Amino acid sequence: MNHPDTRPTSASARRALVIAASLAIGCTWALPSAAEDAKTIAATVCIACHGEDGNSAIPMFPKIAGLQESYIVKQLRDFQSGRRKSDIMAPVVAALKPQDLAPLASFYASQKIKPSSDADKKAAEFGKMVYFEGNEETGVPACVGCHQPQGAGHLIYPRIGGQHVTYVTQQLKNFASGERNNDVSRYMRVVAKRMSEEEIDSVAAYLAGLDSK
Ligand code: HEC
Ligand code: HEC
Repeated sequence: MNHPDTRPTSASARRALVIAASLAIGCTWALPSAAEDAKTIAATVCIACHGEDGNSAIPMFPKIAGLQESYIVKQLRDFQSGRRKSDIMAPVVAALKPQDLAPLASFYASQKIKPSSDADKKAAEFGKMVYFEGNEETGVPACVGCHQPQGAGHLIYPRIGGQHVTYVTQQLKNFASGERNNDVSRYMRVVAKRMSEEEIDSVAAYLAGLDSK
């Protein structure tokens, strides 16, 4: 049986092949890798609010160092789709390409969160009880069951140890009011709705000081 001749027959077709081949070779060294792109974006865009290594110095901007990689990707997608609302993050993520998300998440997930040392010690003591025991009377579950010891997090449960007090209290209030409603299975809306203001402030004070290695 005769195979069709696949060799280029005309000079112009041969030229096209040569150009295509040289472009393919050129691409391997001319274009920066996705990881380098992410580092450039982190160092020029995200740094303004989240700090150089994801340890934001401003209490209303979350520390994103050491968050779970899949959690970061999910949040960036949720900001893009509007499932998680933020007037600040919306324009930032609108400028990102789909291929930027995973390398950005990997970069911040590999950074180490630095705990804050200025949280109220007395409040933190009560907060520790809330974290490990919840509140049986009002049905607040223990945070540790999902967020792990030291608030280190695991898979879909984000690291919350070391996070800013202001950010944590704001997010818990947003979950309670339903303003933040992008949580899987409504877990956090149910939890936060049952918490008193004192429990919210105290658990945030406890979390801020955790050095989650
Ligand atoms: C102008 C300030 C600003 C810039 C720039 C910015 N962010 Fe944010 N980011 C915020 C704020 C504010 C929030 C909290 C939004 C909210 O209230 O829910 C946030 C939230 C996040 C979260 C969710 C954190 C969590 O714990 O759930 C991630 C992830 C994130 N930003 C990543 C990035 C990345 C990656 C970049 C760069 C491409 C970036 N941000 C640039 C202000 C900023
Ligand atoms: C049943 C599991 C579960 C329990 C119990 C739980 N959480 Fe969560 N929490 C989650 C999940 C899942 C998310 C991530 C939601 C998302 O995908 O946006 C989350 C997110 C959070 C966030 C937002 C983190 C960020 O970076 O924006 C805070 C703060 C938080 N939880 C605090 C608590 C506290 C405090 C308790 C205990 C009173 C608690 N959680 C109990 C599952 C849980």
